[in-house]
Amino acid sequence: MDHPTQLRLANQLLDLIDRNGTSLAASCSVNPVSSYTCPEHLGREQARLFRSGPLMVGLSCELSGPGAYLTDDLSGVPIVIIRLPEGGLNAVINVCRHRGARLLEGNGTLARSMTCPYHGWRYDLHGRLKKLVPADGFQGLGCAERDLTRLAVFEQHGLIWVSPSPGRAMEPLALLGGLNQEIAAYRFETFVLYRRLQLHRSFNWKMVIETFLENWHFPFVHRRTVLPNFLPSVSLFEAFDRHGRLIMPRRSILQMRDQPIEQWSLLKHSLIMYWLFPNTLLLWQADHLETWQVYPSQERPDRCTAQVSLYTPHAATSVREREYWDKNLALLIETVDGEDFAISERIQPGLRSGAQECLTFGRHEPALQHFHRQIQLALEEAPVSVG
Ligand code: FES
Ligand SMILES: [Fe+2]
Repeated sequence: MDHPTQLRLANQLLDLIDRNGTSLAASCSVNPVSSYTCPEHLGREQARLFRSGPLMVGLSCELSGPGAYLTDDLSGVPIVIIRLPEGGLNAVINVCRHRGARLLEGNGTLARSMTCPYHGWRYDLHGRLKKLVPADGFQGLGCAERDLTRLAVFEQHGLIWVSPSPGRAMEPLALLGGLNQEIAAYRFETFVLYRRLQLHRSFNWKMVIETFLENWHFPFVHRRTVLPNFLPSVSLFEAFDRHGRLIMPRRSILQMRDQPIEQWSLLKHSLIMYWLFPNTLLLWQADHLETWQVYPSQERPDRCTAQVSLYTPHAATSVREREYWDKNLALLIETVDGEDFAISERIQPGLRSGAQECLTFGRHEPALQHFHRQIQLALEEAPVSVG
């Protein structure tokens, strides 16, 4: 976020604080309880949101040199993304074209090719089959007929996006839409992954996103953890096409009034959150980036996996730096997993109780309303043909 944008938004926030105001939606809205509990609804979400993508799967630093690869299974499609020697990225389905063995595990670096662990078929980094094994066992079959199945992949401003369905094109300009320039200014392409955790929890995936998109619960849920750092009950929301940006001011924002305007830093004095459709959150946390990627279980609407990653502007090289980032991570887990997710775990059984048909979102929860509206709109869209 550039400085003129920080000043503009800081002034809007200070004005809201002075008026005891907050960003408001035009009216209340509701979301059916069945969207958290119904297996058929989960099936539609899988097809329209998670299988079609594009999904933000990580940052450029995770594929830093030629041959570096990562695997990702969270969408339900086993994906491999590989850094090509010429610098770009290749994404393929992690399934051998002989008899379907899984090709790669975890992450690492490939020299020039990948060899299937089952019978030794060999593919280059572009996913082109180079060697049939045994060579005389496949008469009439050419290598070109069994290349790995390619997926659309794109890297932009340090963010990597993949479409998990073969044959889907990706429109780079549409990925971030109106947030394009703002995200570019962070220079996430220079950031480094410090730590990543996967949390498997017993509630619907949308509740992970929900817990971040309002701060009205801070005085009730986070009294001991983050409430001392944040002004609750005030936030600034703006929708950007399908995405959204929500800013929660730290209490320290009030100090800016005593500083010359050139020194104002919204980045330092607020939590700046970007919800990237459909399942990703980027959280700018004063001096580092935290990302959340949330996926439903394949079968159950009441199970999800939340992947949290902490990225730093530079690699931590000293004990002191590592202690600092470890402390940040510990507070994050204590707050989100220990406090927010504990509430979500108790919400899920109540959704099946018959207490109500809908959950209600107030005017003061515009980010949540936008999130649910965009998900609902995507689910209503006609299915996109693949291939
Ligand atoms: S399944 Fe990969 S070589 Fe046979
Ligand atoms: Fe929270």
